[in-house]
Amino acid sequence: MKVLVIYESTRGRTKAMADAICEGAKGKGKECEVVDAKDFEIIEDVCALAVGSSTRMKRTLPKVRQILSALQPLNGLPVVAYGSYGWSGEAPGEIAGILEEKGGKLVGKPLRVKDYPNEEMLGKCRELGESLADSCS
Ligand SMILES: Cc1cc2nc3c(=O)[nH]c(=O)nc-3n(C[C@H](O)[C@H](O)[C@H](O)COP(=O)(O)O)c2cc1C
Repeated sequence: MKVLVIYESTRGRTKAMADAICEGAKGKGKECEVVDAKDFEIIEDVCALAVGSSTRMKRTLPKVRQILSALQPLNGLPVVAYGSYGWSGEAPGEIAGILEEKGGKLVGKPLRVKDYPNEEMLGKCRELGESLADSCS
């Protein structure tokens, strides 16, 4: 069972967050996989899920929106939402709402990072990955 970290990112900022989340999970001894939303196929053998997107025109990017709308019921799977933003940053909140509607159990508040994550924010991403790993069973 692994932690799955899905991201959609236009300039690599949300991807940097995804990589740090996985680093945190791996630091706790869990297997973790980072998947670009365009390559996502299925949620299988997953014990916790992170979904991230930057915000464009006040919305989540399209491939992540597509993935979320097609998600099967999550049945209490531990989940988190995250993403980089420029000024309003709606995507992580939007993602968290949908993950919850689909039956996910939020294990942390949506993590939003303005622009490129600095060392402090990368640390917060790693902590989120640690929480996800701790919630894995
Ligand atoms: C066309 C366009 C629209 C954007 N719209 C928003 C927006 O509505 N709200 C916001 O907070 N940031 C907005 N941004 C800023 C991006 O969310 C920000 O640059 C983010 O750091 C990009 O992260 P990424 O590299 O992971 O895609 C927009 C950027 C572009 C290029």
